[in-house]
Amino acid sequence: MSGAPVQRDCWTAFDRAAEDWLVWQRTPWARAYYALVQLHLATLEPAGQVWNVLDVGGANGADSLPLLEAGHHVTIVDASSVLLAEAVAAAERAGPGAGQLRIEHRDLDDRRALPLPADAEGWDLVLCHNVLHYRDDAAELVGRLVAATRPGGVLSLIAPNPAMDVLAAAVRDRDPRQGLEVLDAPSRRSVTVGEPMHRLERADVEAAARAEGAVVTEWYGLRVVIDLVADDEVKEDPEWLRQALELEVALSARDPYREVARFWQLFCRRPG
Ligand SMILES: C[S@@+](CC[C@H](N)C(=O)[O-])C[C@H]1O[C@@H](n2cnc3c(N)ncnc32)[C@H](O)[C@@H]1O
Repeated sequence: MSGAPVQRDCWTAFDRAAEDWLVWQRTPWARAYYALVQLHLATLEPAGQVWNVLDVGGANGADSLPLLEAGHHVTIVDASSVLLAEAVAAAERAGPGAGQLRIEHRDLDDRRALPLPADAEGWDLVLCHNVLHYRDDAAELVGRLVAATRPGGVLSLIAPNPAMDVLAAAVRDRDPRQGLEVLDAPSRRSVTVGEPMHRLERADVEAAARAEGAVVTEWYGLRVVIDLVADDEVKEDPEWLRQALELEVALSARDPYREVARFWQLFCRRPG
């Protein structure tokens, strides 16, 4: 699953693009995405138990701060000091749980970048959402993520689904030529951040996780229909978005729909 190395600078890219990234997070389609992620994470939570959560490439904590608010302990590792500062500010605004947030300003190129929890042999829950496609060797990072998960713990992986690159170009953007061009392209460029991204197939990441001894327990497709709608204005209508999200929830674990969603999400369990 190693992609041909591409020139990139993830250490500073997200600091430079932080403002655009935060604007993107407020779009209806990003809010729908984060809502789906929370619904899926909620299926993992055993009542009353405090989890040690590691959010790798967690940025401003959009996925992990709700877990902090729910009483879990969260550590975010990221290269962007700007987005990590946003995470701290958001946690403080949210309330008393902020004391259980730890941030680590680290580069994943450093193979020792992933910390361990203070009092356990691994993390109960490891999130690595929308980071793997920025790595030339995604399988290598998957190996480190599985190793950082405690036996019995869960690893959640998310990356953009290559199939939707083609459909969004041809259907939403009405550009079939672009759809054909991207069909077999090994990488594409992030619109918001400007960095090159490898087009990662879910099956390859599943194989990498299994090779490290993890068991894939569930997978979802995130945003099956919202990305095929060209009219961004309609997405601003709260009632339209509510109905679209209801449909997305129904489609996210169902074949054949999830196969073409904007993102795939995997849950992997490290055997106890
Ligand atoms: C697309 S954002 C995803 C953020 C968050 N996980 C989410 O889904 O909202 C990718 C994040 O990975 C971080 N990242 C990318 N390459 C990195 C590296 N080499 N070391 C540490 N963080 C990195 C970026 O700084 C950025 O915050």
